[in-house]
Amino acid sequence: MGRKMLVVGNWKMNGLRAQLGEVAAIGALARQHSGVEVGLCVPATLIAAASEKAGGAFIGAQDCHAKDSGAHTGCLSGAMLREAGAAWAIVGHSERRTDQHETSADVAAKALGGKKAGLKVILCLGESLETRDSDKAIDFVLAQLDDSLPEGAAADWLAIAYEPIWAIGTGRIPTMDQIEEMHSAIRMRLRERIGAGEADAMRILYGGSVNAENAADIFAIEDVDGGLVGGASLTAAKFGPIIEAAA
Ligand code: PGA
Repeated sequence: MGRKMLVVGNWKMNGLRAQLGEVAAIGALARQHSGVEVGLCVPATLIAAASEKAGGAFIGAQDCHAKDSGAHTGCLSGAMLREAGAAWAIVGHSERRTDQHETSADVAAKALGGKKAGLKVILCLGESLETRDSDKAIDFVLAQLDDSLPEGAAADWLAIAYEPIWAIGTGRIPTMDQIEEMHSAIRMRLRERIGAGEADAMRILYGGSVNAENAADIFAIEDVDGGLVGGASLTAAKFGPIIEAAA
């Protein structure tokens, strides 16, 4: 299908300048695996310094405000993130949907804000354990996709990340069948929403407890085009095998 694998680390609220050596080491690994697009979404305070060390990896942000500028204390616009050195931004991560009460409408607006500033965007979706256990995961995630998908969504600037909330940081992952079923449902809904050409070109990442042991199996699934990786992206020693699995 010609979709280049995309493997992105999400450092969350981890990382001081002392960790820039890991950024450089991961950047060097990325350069050795040019068939995989590798990135690190670091805390905003590290974007500028990390982008100088990132080698073959891109640096991204973990959020992006919908507006270009204005009275929004503590927020960062896409233009600011771009200027600092970010090429991508994550929007709609479940931790932000929960902690910052971001709605899907907010998330769609943030994605467009990032796009306007020239950022590429990873849009996160995912169900709770309660929703999974009541067999409503697919309906829930497709509704979240419908409500969060920004206008003009296209494969050259947008990627989707399916991240079941109950798999994030828990060491627990869905079965390969469950991942396959969800990714193919997302692909089919994207075809309806943006047309088959764009939908078939758009990367759909899996996220939630991806590690060196499970990455190869997850990445072998038909509609999985890479991963969004939290804990296992913090060091080159842990992230390297995941990049290799994608290659
Ligand atoms: P995890 O986090 O890999 O630590 O589970 C993934 C994420 O939240 O993006």
